[in-house]
Amino acid sequence: MIWCNSVVSYNYCKFQWLLLCCFLFLAHGENIKRSDFPDEFLFGVGTSAYQIEGAYLEDGKSLNNWDVFSLSPGTIRNGDNGFIADDHYHQYLKDIELIQSLGVDTYRFSISWSRILPRGRFGDVNPDGIMFYNKILDELVSRGIKPFVTIYHFDFPQELQDRYGSWLSPLMQEDYVHYADTCFKNFGDRVKYWTTMNEPNLFTQMAYQNGRYPPARCSQPFGDCPAGNSDTEPIVVMHNMLLAHGKAVNLYRRDYQHEQGGSVGIVLDCLMYEPLTDNELDQEAARRGLAFSIGWALDPLTFGDYPSEMRQYIGNQLPQFTSAERKFMRNSIDFIGVNHYSTTYAKDCLYSDCSISANRATKGFLDTTSERDGVQIGELTGISSLRVVPRGIGEVVEYLKERYDNKPMFITENGYSEPQTEGQDQDAIQDFKRIEFHQMYLSSLAQAIRDGANVKGYFVWTLMDDFEWIIGYRIKFGLYYIDRQTLARVPKMSAKWYQDFLKNNTQTPVIRLSSELVHNKADS
Ligand code: NOJ
Repeated sequence: MIWCNSVVSYNYCKFQWLLLCCFLFLAHGENIKRSDFPDEFLFGVGTSAYQIEGAYLEDGKSLNNWDVFSLSPGTIRNGDNGFIADDHYHQYLKDIELIQSLGVDTYRFSISWSRILPRGRFGDVNPDGIMFYNKILDELVSRGIKPFVTIYHFDFPQELQDRYGSWLSPLMQEDYVHYADTCFKNFGDRVKYWTTMNEPNLFTQMAYQNGRYPPARCSQPFGDCPAGNSDTEPIVVMHNMLLAHGKAVNLYRRDYQHEQGGSVGIVLDCLMYEPLTDNELDQEAARRGLAFSIGWALDPLTFGDYPSEMRQYIGNQLPQFTSAERKFMRNSIDFIGVNHYSTTYAKDCLYSDCSISANRATKGFLDTTSERDGVQIGELTGISSLRVVPRGIGEVVEYLKERYDNKPMFITENGYSEPQTEGQDQDAIQDFKRIEFHQMYLSSLAQAIRDGANVKGYFVWTLMDDFEWIIGYRIKFGLYYIDRQTLARVPKMSAKWYQDFLKNNTQTPVIRLSSELVHNKADS
């Protein structure tokens, strides 16, 4: 494929758009529209602080866990880091203009802990950090875009790691509550949607089970880290995170909610599990997969205790909540934030042979695979474990609806990254696959809503290509392409598609969009 950057390629682009329209029509026989969703449904786009801000030591920000981690050789693909990232710290105004031009109702972003509290609760609030987020919030509100704020999205001041080992220690609960309090106090007048943390279930696995995220702790057979225990530490870390959430929400409800009128949720990685075979054991394994990943966090925050499935297999190793804790943990979310990308098959390990890392209590005695009878569950994406399985979003929402009494849900992330091959950067602009991905997932979601699921909003992940954690900048989820030399933001076709979709205008001659793209690109 080529870029739409010349008169010659303009006709080519027209042709490609026509092909795309025909393809989408024939392939799916439907054209999802904004009006397929309830009137009050919120559409948005999301980012996270460390992935886009850069300015890693500017205006009083301290080193955080990811800064330090990426300074250590071999941790991030290609030696990438978030020191400059997308330079959003300096270009936030331009980015908010892009967000507004998409026509979204809401923007999900996170606060950088080390920017506003460089030393956690061991130092002062950084006024420059507060000012930065005040400017963002004011801009959003004045443009009629609802801020949807994640308090903690994987990054925290390194000092908390060095002092007491961060989330492995209950002391981190106190630091988290102090941080959340600082956010509520300074920003809560403009924030009506808070989420306490992003994907604690994925974080515990990546940081304490396979040791690929900082602080990179693990043990055999999960990985080869200098220290850690992959069977026990994730459980301790999750316990501290859940208590931190519960205490922060308690505080919000007691001191702020009445006056500020916001709601609070938590965001979880919601991978869908389907049984590998019709066999009852695999069906049970799929149910266990969901309980061990989603129920692990949501059961305590809804019912006040860990899922019975986990108690059954992990037994006494699973921490106990005191009765006072159970009280404030129960019903400590107003909504569920659902990050959904993909679906996997689950295979039972209790009665069948599995690899030694799957055949473990912490994993729920199940193995996962994307292949059944030689057929993949869905098309490959840039992250090999995330296959394209549109039905999964409907299935996972249905699961949550049943298990949590149809509590309000937001799809806080859903997005696509293209499989990468060397030197393929330019094709990223003509991201037909991303458009197709969102259309198919949205169709499945719309059906689930028609079937009664209480889903209130949907956020595309992500606004612009960014620092994709240990994979660095090569894997791209953005609606906007970032030229890594100039940091220019270039709209992909998916940005144009989302803009049009949000105008309920999917029947429009998409050709017009390609001509806009031609000019945008030529002008840039
Ligand atoms: C979920 C994480 O919240 C986000 O930070 C990440 O970029 C996406 N998944 C894609 O991997």
